[in-house]
Amino acid sequence: MGFVDIHSHILPEMDDGAQDLRQALQMLEKASGEGISHMIATPHYKQGKYRANSRTVLERTKLLQEAARKQGIPIRLYPGTEILYHGELEEKFDRGELCTLNHSEYALIEFMPLEEFHYIRNAADQLLGMGYRPVLAHVERYRCLLKDADKVREIKGMGCRIQVNAGSVTGQFGRPARRFVRKLIQAELVDYLGTDAHDLNKRAPLMNGCAEYLYQKCSRGYADALLFENAMSELLTDSSPNP
Ligand SMILES: [Fe+2]
Repeated sequence: MGFVDIHSHILPEMDDGAQDLRQALQMLEKASGEGISHMIATPHYKQGKYRANSRTVLERTKLLQEAARKQGIPIRLYPGTEILYHGELEEKFDRGELCTLNHSEYALIEFMPLEEFHYIRNAADQLLGMGYRPVLAHVERYRCLLKDADKVREIKGMGCRIQVNAGSVTGQFGRPARRFVRKLIQAELVDYLGTDAHDLNKRAPLMNGCAEYLYQKCSRGYADALLFENAMSELLTDSSPNP
């Protein structure tokens, strides 16, 4: 079983991720070499900037999957979106404008790094009330949560899921982020991993270093859960097929 990357900017010409098909395929080659076998494409949906609507995400995921298949890259792609939380999400979900993680009830949600905790909690409440399960994207990026594992526990206790970036586990995004995500991992508060890959350089789709850390420092069961089992059983089940 390969690793599952639930957060990637792999679709070409959608946002600040892969710039064209050639780069997207190179990133997929790299990801495959890192042991990734399943990847959810999660281009940005931000008001006024990147608006990855559901229909375009599905079309581009299909196109990239086909191109990868032709090149013999053994990665299965699934559609998703990284949604920057804002007040009018409800009607956008209702209109089918936003793509959840592989059509599941789980939606990858991000906030601005300096957002207040009560705002994040209220947002989670609203989304849960609408019937969605928010997956908090790169939880280590928010100042109000950094250093406070109890707040993450609280959010998780509400019914949210917690995603951290694989690069944060290895220290790619600095010591405070590394210290915090490792603490969350030791407390088994993390549910999913993402590469949050944008390119082949500073934000490449790396997973091996993180996997090595997890298998050294965690129980085998929890490492497997983070690296593939949770995502396979909750997001990539047969009832939520790829496009
Ligand atoms: Fe992202």
